[in-house]
Amino acid sequence: MHVSQVADGIYQLAINIENMLFEGLWEIPDGVSMNSYIVKGEKTAIIDGVCGWDGVPQNFFDMLKDLDIDPASIEYVILNHMEPDHTGWIEDLKKISKDFKVVCTKKAEPMLEAFFNHTENIMVVGDGDSLDLGGRTLQFAEIPNVHWPDTMATFDVETGTLFSCDAFGSYGKVDHGNYDDLLSEEDLQFYEKEAVRYYANIVAAFSMFVDKAIKKCASLPIKIIAPGHGVVWRKDPNRIIEDYKRYVQYQKGPARKEITVLWGSMYGMTESGVNHAVKCLEKEDDIKVNVVRVPQDSWGKILGHAWTSTGIVLAMPTYEYKMFPPMAAALEELGKKKVINRKVFRLGSYGWSGGAQRELDDINTRLKMNWDFVEPVEYKGAPTKEDLKRIETGVSALVEAVREAVK
Ligand code: FEO
Repeated sequence: MHVSQVADGIYQLAINIENMLFEGLWEIPDGVSMNSYIVKGEKTAIIDGVCGWDGVPQNFFDMLKDLDIDPASIEYVILNHMEPDHTGWIEDLKKISKDFKVVCTKKAEPMLEAFFNHTENIMVVGDGDSLDLGGRTLQFAEIPNVHWPDTMATFDVETGTLFSCDAFGSYGKVDHGNYDDLLSEEDLQFYEKEAVRYYANIVAAFSMFVDKAIKKCASLPIKIIAPGHGVVWRKDPNRIIEDYKRYVQYQKGPARKEITVLWGSMYGMTESGVNHAVKCLEKEDDIKVNVVRVPQDSWGKILGHAWTSTGIVLAMPTYEYKMFPPMAAALEELGKKKVINRKVFRLGSYGWSGGAQRELDDINTRLKMNWDFVEPVEYKGAPTKEDLKRIETGVSALVEAVREAVK
């Protein structure tokens, strides 16, 4: 729990979340922060919040006490986005005050009732609307589907601060120094890795809308970006904007000069082929190689690596006439997140019958992934010397395809 000053009259209340799955699904080995913001004019507004985790609401009230703010004096609760990781303060405030207004988009209003049975004192706002806090003005810009359809961003005209909610956010715990001007380059690179994994897990499927949101926000004179998760950008907000522009592009590829080896094995036969492929890849100095295994590695990690990779080595055995089931599940997830146009080399072992390729073709077609395959290598049982040579050829073809795509 941290309180810090973002700019004149703007304060951040941040809580770190750890040892849980974000959205009940995504592994967060380095945690994630929930950032809420107080904006003080003659009237006080709070933008976004956190929900339901340890210590809420007491830590919320403690943070307000640090700022010498009486919770009952908060007149506006601005909900940029109804997902419950940002909306918890409403219920807490309701326990002590009945006078605050909730500010949200038209699409958020019915969700407000569904999630919190809250139907009164709602101010619906849309693109270009503003709110006068007395001495400072907040403007609103709808950025639908970043991440839910209801999402908007709030812009403080006086300081040029964009409260962007999920947009421009990242995983990773924060402390009092979670401002780009207070972080070292090494720290910023850590958060960049956390940002791209967050992007791949949370908003990747909506990349087209992220692109629109970036273009819409570009018309605002932004000086500070204050997201709902992760680092506040006040020295170089353009850095996270440019990062996000690249993440959008990665969906359709080409992404980075990277190859992710995504593999699963039952008795080590496919694993032998994978080890050989990895050995071949490691000789290619200009290509970064990521290795992830199903079902051992989390979907969050797999998605994060697949998102930044132009090439993928898929290695799995056939299992009862079909693909090794955890690989099929992972590929379905990659398809739903629209990881498309990748260069791919598949290898794998089978016992008495093949079948993995058939299911792979079906997933690729059904989910419109448009993956471009080099000649696959399948072998019965353990790989022979000849099979290993064919794997070398497949890896070389993939490397060349990646180099050609990322010129
Ligand atoms: Fe951070 Fe989509 O909520």
